[in-house]
Amino acid sequence: MFFKGNSKSEKRKVGDELSHVAFIMDGNGRWATKRSLPREMGHSAGAQTFKKIVRYCGDIGIKVVTVYAFSTENWGRPEKEVRSIMNLLDDYIKTAEESNEENNIQYVFLGDKSALAPELRDKANKLEELTKNNKLLLNIALNYGGRAEIVHAVNALMAEGKTKITEEDISSHLYTAHCPDPDLIIRTGCELRLSNFLMWQSAYSELYFTDVLWPDFNESEVDKAINEFYKRTRRFGKISK
Ligand code: FPP
Repeated sequence: MFFKGNSKSEKRKVGDELSHVAFIMDGNGRWATKRSLPREMGHSAGAQTFKKIVRYCGDIGIKVVTVYAFSTENWGRPEKEVRSIMNLLDDYIKTAEESNEENNIQYVFLGDKSALAPELRDKANKLEELTKNNKLLLNIALNYGGRAEIVHAVNALMAEGKTKITEEDISSHLYTAHCPDPDLIIRTGCELRLSNFLMWQSAYSELYFTDVLWPDFNESEVDKAINEFYKRTRRFGKISK
């Protein structure tokens, strides 16, 4: 469906109409439980899937990828599980730094970094600085909540002395001010909701839900979602031409 040119040997690429894809990586815990493994193993398998999917998105020409790695609500999980996700992020940041030249990924962390362990926060800030001129933009939502993000933007606008605000004012004060809204949001793991992810930015996003658990998600599942995206007609509140 999304082949550029006529030959199948040509590299598959998406067009400009699909520049930003966001993922809700759900189902790690159930994937592990089904295999009688601890939930942490599910997150570890999920982190491998995350790397594979980001690479693939870059290969097919997607310019911006956003993932929901840890929500403001996820702190309520058992301490062992929270620690394991933070450790995975820590490891990932280290690898991202080491493979910076080869991967050419620009990392931006969305969310309130102040609640993170100081070492993790420093590493995240350093990675953002190191990669700021790279090509593929990868937003990692970490200690992120969509409502909290809007409140944060409004407070920032009030601090600037604004008494009347526009939609553009809010958009430009969100954590995602540096990138376009997502064209497509993919949620794995069988749940049909957005769970406080990109509440403002998803106003006109196409939503795609799949029963596949995140650790089982792969390149051909991305293709399925993209093919479905291309079947949709996006009218943005207007009528078709
Ligand atoms: C949701 O699945 C997943 C999370 C809350 C964490 C997602 C984290 C990763 C994929 C690893 C992050 C690592 C990097 C490097 C970005 P769930 O645990 O809610 O699954 P369940 O609904 O089956 O319990």
